[in-house]
Amino acid sequence: MATFPQGFTWGTATASYQIEGAVKEDGRGVSIWDTFSATPGNVYNGNTGEIACDHYHRWREDIDLMRQLNTNAYRFSIAWSRIFPTGRGQVNQKGLDFYSRLVDGLLAVGITPYVTIYHWDLPQALQDEDGWLRRGIIDDYVAYVDTLTRALGDRVKHWITFNEPWVFTWLGYVMGIHAPGYKSENPAPALIATHHAYLAHGSAVPVIRQNSADAQVGITLNLTPSDPASAKPTDLDATARFDGFFNRWYLDPLFRGHYPADMVALYEPYAPEIRPGEMQRIHVPLDFLGINYYTRAVIADDAQNALIRTRQEKPEGEYTEMGWEVYPDGLYTLLKRVHSDYSPRAIYITENGAAFADQLTPDGQIHDERRTAYLKSHFEAAARAIDDGVPLKGYFVWSLMDNFEWAEGFSKRFGLYYVDYTTQKRILKDSGRYFMNVAKTGQT
Ligand code: FCB
Repeated sequence: MATFPQGFTWGTATASYQIEGAVKEDGRGVSIWDTFSATPGNVYNGNTGEIACDHYHRWREDIDLMRQLNTNAYRFSIAWSRIFPTGRGQVNQKGLDFYSRLVDGLLAVGITPYVTIYHWDLPQALQDEDGWLRRGIIDDYVAYVDTLTRALGDRVKHWITFNEPWVFTWLGYVMGIHAPGYKSENPAPALIATHHAYLAHGSAVPVIRQNSADAQVGITLNLTPSDPASAKPTDLDATARFDGFFNRWYLDPLFRGHYPADMVALYEPYAPEIRPGEMQRIHVPLDFLGINYYTRAVIADDAQNALIRTRQEKPEGEYTEMGWEVYPDGLYTLLKRVHSDYSPRAIYITENGAAFADQLTPDGQIHDERRTAYLKSHFEAAARAIDDGVPLKGYFVWSLMDNFEWAEGFSKRFGLYYVDYTTQKRILKDSGRYFMNVAKTGQT
């Protein structure tokens, strides 16, 4: 058993496209995920977020679900295309009003909103101009942030500029697995998209601070600690490359003001163009770092992989439905490492959770022991890191309820509540019952 400090933040996390539905309502514009999921072959079983959890209409009921879990915080994202249907220009007041009501509803019951400004659902109109590959998107993002933080900044005091830049740039612009579904033989598009997103981040942080007095501002990265498959020097080198590709490329600019030199050399000639002053702009002090942790990577050297010459091995162990190894110790080592190498002022786990094949039993319940065990072991790993001095301030479970899991559609269930997509009924899982108690007592 582990005990968390008094005042620890306990929450759940979601993202707009994964739960809201109502894609044509109140003037919302088309996003790249509408387009991508409507294209056959992109998403499991042709699933789309057109209805998803119908949260746009059921948000009051969903706040009740959060209250039932005893959480004191909620992380959600804003659909850019509800605020600016074509990405810029005329504000859609109805879109702003939706989030404003949601924020008021949360605050009324003592749940602190943590807002992710960009969780991947770019307005399609901006994609038609090349999305994150176009430098001008930096100004569009800042204008969007300015409008959003002017409207909500009096009540929202926790802002996350981006969710997982690695994922949307690599999966979206090189591997073709996520929207906009671009494929590339070389890393250039991911590196350019990342550089623009980071410039957008660095440019937006002062704007947020200006519009939202005393706000805490951060960014969320998906970090994966990597272990070598063997003690061979080639595997050790491969592990360092993987770490550079996945973790350091994203951490170093934020906390050290430069991209890692070994990776810049490796990516030659595809490293992004950096103009004078840009790295300083990216290297803006942050109030916190959000970390999404799901698993670790075990890495071997592999000449077949043209880019970074690594292969991910699958060691013996327990795996989730996503094919991700259950490895709580990785969370502990990751937190310790980020603290000692980068010392962010504060850290939040902005996502952690697991997909398992949940079954509704005849008693109408979900007895998801494996998810409960997953959460408990990860909470305890986090508590150990706190005991060792890591400034971990909060923990958001992914996710409040089952939802649209991107390219996996509705086939993967991460929720503390089960969602019956035909009736939209939400059913508390046993893991939710477990979490309810942790959030209340601070004990695992
Ligand atoms: C993360 C995403 C989140 C969710 C989880 C399972 O990469 O940020 O939206 O899909 O994975």
